[in-house]
Amino acid sequence: MPIVAPSLLAANYLNLEADCKMLNESVADWYHLDIMDGRFVPNISFGPMLVEFFRKATKKPCDVHLMILEPEKFTEEFKNAGADILSVHIEACPNLHRNIQQIKSLGMKAGVAINPHTPVSDLSEILHDIDLVCMMSVNPGYGGQKFIAHTIEKIKQLRKMSNEKGLNVHIEIDGGVTLENAPSIIAAGADVLVAGNTVFKSADPKATIQLLKNL
Ligand code: DX5
Ligand code: ZN
Repeated sequence: MPIVAPSLLAANYLNLEADCKMLNESVADWYHLDIMDGRFVPNISFGPMLVEFFRKATKKPCDVHLMILEPEKFTEEFKNAGADILSVHIEACPNLHRNIQQIKSLGMKAGVAINPHTPVSDLSEILHDIDLVCMMSVNPGYGGQKFIAHTIEKIKQLRKMSNEKGLNVHIEIDGGVTLENAPSIIAAGADVLVAGNTVFKSADPKATIQLLKNL
């Protein structure tokens, strides 16, 4: 069964309590929290303050996706806010190994996110140090975009690389995940599904999460 991580970016911010209650009653595994700084990506979302609120609202792990430049400046703040998993973008980290060491030294699980244009081979020297790869299947910055089909090939490459190294890294797919494309995403070797609009814009979000979970 895949790990299902609804993205709160698509939640109703005028009624977050109800959306959190829905998620907590659902079979969702993680809260996926998208942090955007308006520099690494052309959009601004929210910061540690809101992560703290989500932390108080749930016992489920908070999977924090940093789409920011210089993430090392905020790693401790996100730890204090309640992040369980912290992912930084390889494209934003010239000293990625140091970023990963910092995240792990604070007791969080470490993830590396890669953009659609970034080859899987760029992960070869860091894969054994991390718990999760957040593979973007859209260009980061917005929810509700269309899944980039070539991602399926990248998932296969990454799962092969992980297996050949004797690792079992989580492969998280982020962006444009739907009930239609999720089976081929899982079949390619991914095990974590981020879903924003597919969950929060559906008529019955809990049932949609259950359908994703049953794959
Ligand atoms: C986009 C974010 C995604 C996004 C997913 O940059 O990283 O997590 O919120 O939303 P959907 O599932 O609607 O594409
Ligand atoms: Zn995300």
